[in-house]
Amino acid sequence: MNSTASLFFKSGVLFLLVGLGAGIGMAASHDHTIAPAHAHLNLLGFVLSVAYGTYFALSPAKANGLLPRAIWGLHTLAVVVMFPTLSLMLLGNAALEPVVAVSSIVAFVAALLFAFVVFRPARATVTQPVGRVASTA
Ligand code: HEM
Ligand code: HEM
Repeated sequence: MNSTASLFFKSGVLFLLVGLGAGIGMAASHDHTIAPAHAHLNLLGFVLSVAYGTYFALSPAKANGLLPRAIWGLHTLAVVVMFPTLSLMLLGNAALEPVVAVSSIVAFVAALLFAFVVFRPARATVTQPVGRVASTA
């Protein structure tokens, strides 16, 4: 698997662990106040990261260059900022709303760049020689 796909899977699975932990915490405490933050940590953080990672794993030619890394960086930054700030906002800290809004715009920009990568033609890749094919003659 290429490194961009691997990064998306690594960050995604960490978001999943925290997201499931938050779900179990809500269920155990019977306090569902942060349900939307939990939902979007799982959905944006795990589901979308794994979807992006799967695309880059299936299309290695599209994983070349800085842009896929930038998409990972922006998407991951958005989730890392959104979960705590949205949780605190839902718990009553209304002043954090602009930060949540900016994090969602950053996730949107990452999605726009991902759309650009999906639609642009793949760049030529330099393939490594795989060695001699044994002759049966
Ligand atoms: C250990 C696993 C999980 C537990 C214990 C859990 C627990 C919860 C709880 C207690 C709620 C609040 C329900 C309510 O107030 O009506 C909730 C909401 C939700 N959860 Fe989870 N959850 C888990 C995993 C997941 C996963 C993996 C996803 C998505 C991939 C997810 C997506 C959602 C969504 C979309 C909502 C609704 C949020 C909303 O109404 O704003 N959950 N979850
Ligand atoms: C920047 C990205 C996103 C923003 C700003 C956003 C915003 C919102 C908002 C404002 C709500 C309503 C919350 C509430 O009523 O308490 C919501 C609900 C929801 N969103 Fe998102 N969302 C985003 C991405 C996503 C993604 C990527 C998914 C799925 C992969 C998703 C799935 C859901 C679901 C399942 C609900 C809950 C619906 C319900 O329980 O009624 N969202 N979202």
